[in-house]
This record gives sequence, structure tokens and C-alpha cells, in this order.
Amino acid sequence: MTSQCDISNQNARKIIVFDTTLRDGEQSPGASMNLNEKVQVAQALVELGVDVIEAGFPIASPGDFDSVREIAKVVRGSSVCGLARCVDKDIDRAWEALKEAENPRIHVFLATSAIHREFKLRMTREEIISRAVEGVKRARGYCSNIEFSPEDACRTEIDFLCKVVEAVIDAGATTVNIPDTVGYTTPFEMTKRIETLMNRVPNVDKAVISIHCHNDLGMAVANSLAAVAAGAGQIECAINGLGERAGNCALEEVVMALRTRRDFFGLDTRIVSQRLVPTSRLVSKVTGLKVSRNKAIVGRNAFAHESGVHQDGVLKERSTYEIMSAESVGFVKNDLVLGKHSGRAALADRIKALGFDLSKERLDAAFDEFKRLADLKKDIFDADIIAIVDRQNASRLTGKEADWRYVSYSLSSGSESKPSFKAVLSQNGIEHTATSDEGDGPVHAMFWAVQQIVGLRILLKEFKIDAVTCGSDAQGEVRVRVTDVDTNIDYLGRATSTDVFEAALQAVIDAVNRIQHAREGQQA
Ligand code: KIV
Ligand code: ZN
Repeated sequence: MTSQCDISNQNARKIIVFDTTLRDGEQSPGASMNLNEKVQVAQALVELGVDVIEAGFPIASPGDFDSVREIAKVVRGSSVCGLARCVDKDIDRAWEALKEAENPRIHVFLATSAIHREFKLRMTREEIISRAVEGVKRARGYCSNIEFSPEDACRTEIDFLCKVVEAVIDAGATTVNIPDTVGYTTPFEMTKRIETLMNRVPNVDKAVISIHCHNDLGMAVANSLAAVAAGAGQIECAINGLGERAGNCALEEVVMALRTRRDFFGLDTRIVSQRLVPTSRLVSKVTGLKVSRNKAIVGRNAFAHESGVHQDGVLKERSTYEIMSAESVGFVKNDLVLGKHSGRAALADRIKALGFDLSKERLDAAFDEFKRLADLKKDIFDADIIAIVDRQNASRLTGKEADWRYVSYSLSSGSESKPSFKAVLSQNGIEHTATSDEGDGPVHAMFWAVQQIVGLRILLKEFKIDAVTCGSDAQGEVRVRVTDVDTNIDYLGRATSTDVFEAALQAVIDAVNRIQHAREGQQA
């Protein structure tokens, strides 16, 4: 069997990590991100040590094009990739977006399975091969780093798949990806498919064979591991397993499986595992998709031992019940709770340990906020500090002069009376007030008041409150999903405060500002 890529000094073949959080991941229902958020995620992926960042699908929309172009401009150290169907206008547009990248990659795809050929494309096998070859050649005219994906490869007849792979490598593809587009395959079949390609495609050593697994049957990680064990050299995956339908192979899981079981696989990646948790948190924050507590590697309970027997074992010898350490994936050991007497240096230390890097100016602002919070709340936990840092980063990324800002609110409500909500917001330094006696509850009344002030036609689709930490003095985190009725696009809003009504109002303001930014972007 042929195996690909270099051998590290630890004798572990290095697998290329191709992250598609910003492309396939963004196709998760409700996971859309704005340009600033995508750039922030791309920068986090660089720090994580991802080899290739699939930044988007440039022909799909002007917003996608702009974010791929911006990421291509700012990212250094990882290759930046853009997706294109196998048609000239897609490939040209992808190049237009990618051309300023340090190491651009064009990813061209065309379906090859009988179902797709017959019902979707209405093309013969010969036509598929010649279209694929033409697409790869056109992309090669722009740059030397070309990936080709035969979409639905895992349901494609193996003899035909071998021919397609051989033809696109001859045409200049440097990576050939084998997608399990519908999450249908099993690890046993995957092993056989990759081994067959490695043994039967005569020019296979001229390209990296890659794998892209969807999780419809919950086997995306297992299938990806089977593929690399059989000789594939690249894994396509997404943070928190985001992606179309049930998602893609989860980056954090596949990377930690390879690292923890290096004894078995003899493989590894260049991922800085301590950045996994901070990156997962960032992606969860910007997409609004929460990570479940029991999610492997990055879930809040992934390293929590509840049973007395387990706790006893771990205290005596950690390895009795732990196969990796929480610190190795980026959870911070929290011996010290901060409070109102903690100084700037202690806060700065904790922020750093949590994986954030704030400028002096942002740190000063974070410290002021920390002091205000410490007056309201005795113990300040890591989750409180993360909330403070998030607020600082959010104002840096989205703060504009014309944004709406929270000033104050007052509310009267009860089981015997109708709610009344008075909101005071400001824009360009001018205060605006509205009082609403509408609605069948205080949140409804608050939403009406905001609508009157901002003058947008919006609908509140989702409203969620979570406590950031334990204790009755915990900060409340409110997440809202608001629809812009004129465009029918959903926007997320998020805010934290020790006062949940203030958080609710701020979360709606956050969503309103996002709607305004998107509208300005469309006009530009
Ligand atoms: O799942 C899939 O087939 C894809 C391709 C575009 C690689 O996402
Ligand atoms: Zn996919």
C-alpha cells in the first residue's frame, strides 16, 4: 500500500488538516457568519495550525466572494482555498477572490455517481471525465495548488472513480478529495475504497488523496480515520463538526483520535491541540450554535468525572479514567477564582491562560468591566471572564458610529398587570426613547419598544437564556435570532449581563446592528 506525506521525527506520518468550517460548516442551518466573524475564525484557524482553510464558495454570493477575498488577503501561514463548480465562471470567480493569498488553492467539484449523473447532471461518464479535466486545466492556468472533488465519490462505481481520479491527476490536480457527500459509507467500505485507489490509480503518487465525510449515520470521524489509515493524506473537517445536514467530520475529534492513538495509527497532524477549546468556543459564539455538554473533546462535561468511583480513581492516578488531559485540548485548570480584590495583572494572566490576546487598550477596558462586575458578583469565574473578553472583541469587530447603543430600560410587569417596557437607546450620540404596552409578556413588550425606535420590520424568532456560571448572582447570556422581514434573512444577537432584561435588550440591539451592517454592505 502507498502512503503519502512526510514522516515526522516522531515517525508519525503528518496528515494535512483541511478545515471547511467557513464553507461546508457555514452551510449548517442557521450558522451564517458575517465578514468580520469569518476573518476572526480564519485567524483562529491559523493559530490552531490548520494547513488549508476553505474560506467559502466565491460564486455563491457577493458576501461569500468578499469574505474569501478578505481572508486571502490577511491569512499568512495556511493555504486559503475557494470552492468552484466545474464551470468557467465559477473557477474564474474563485481565482478573482483568491489571487492575493500567500498560498491559494482552487477546489473544483463535479458529481460522479450514477444517481447524480443521471438525475442531476444528465451527463454521460465520458462527458463527466472531459468536463472534470477541462475544469482542472482551467484552474491550473491560475495557480498550481488545485483540488478536485468527485462529488458523491463514495457511491460512485469504483472502476469509474479510478478513471476520474487518474484523469484529473493527469490534468494537474494536486489533491483529489473523495467525498462521502451523503454520509452513507462505513469504515470497512472506506478502507477498501481508499486502498483500491492507492493500488489501482497508476499516477496516485502525484497527488494527495483526501477524504471529506458527512455525519448522517454518525460515522464521519470513523470513516475519516479509516481513510487515512488506508493511505489518504488529507482530512477535510470542521470545528464542532459543523456542516451540511448532520455535519462534517469534527476537527477536534479526528485530530485528538490521531494524537491519542498515535501508537495505533502512526499518524499525526500539525494542530496545536491547546487551541481546540478556544477555537470551538469562538465558532460556537459566532454561529450561535451551542456545543452540547457531552460533546467529545470540547463539551463542557468532556473531562468532568461525576461518579464517586471515577473521582476516586482520578485522584489516585489520572490515567485510570482519563485518556487525555483537559489542558491538552485547551481547558484551563482553574484553581483560583478572581474577585473584587484581584488586580489587573491577575486578570491579564487569566485572560492569557484562557487563550486570548488583548491589546493594552482592550485590556484596560476589560479591567474596568471586570471591576464593575466584581461589585455585583462575589466570585468571578472563567466563564465570566470569557464573556467580558467576548464583549470587548465584539465591540472591536462591529462597533460603528451609526450603531444603536443601549442606554437604559425600565419595566413594570406582573401576573396581575399588562407589561410596560421603556427602552432608551442612542445612535450617533442622540438618545431615543420608546415605551411599549404591547405584547403578552415583558420580552414581547421590549421587542416592540426596540422596533419603534429603530424603525425596522423585524421578527423575534428565537430567544434563549442561559446562566454563564453557577449561582443565583450568575450573569445571564441571552441569544436571539431575529428575522429581517424585508429580506427574510435571520440574524443572531447575543449579550451577557447580571441583569437578564438588560442582556435581552442588548442582544436584540446586537441583532439590529447586524441587520444594519448587512444592509449597508448590500448598498456598497
Ligand atoms: O460533501 C461534498 O461532496 C462537498 C464537496 C463540495 C466537496 O462538500
Ligand atoms: Zn460536504
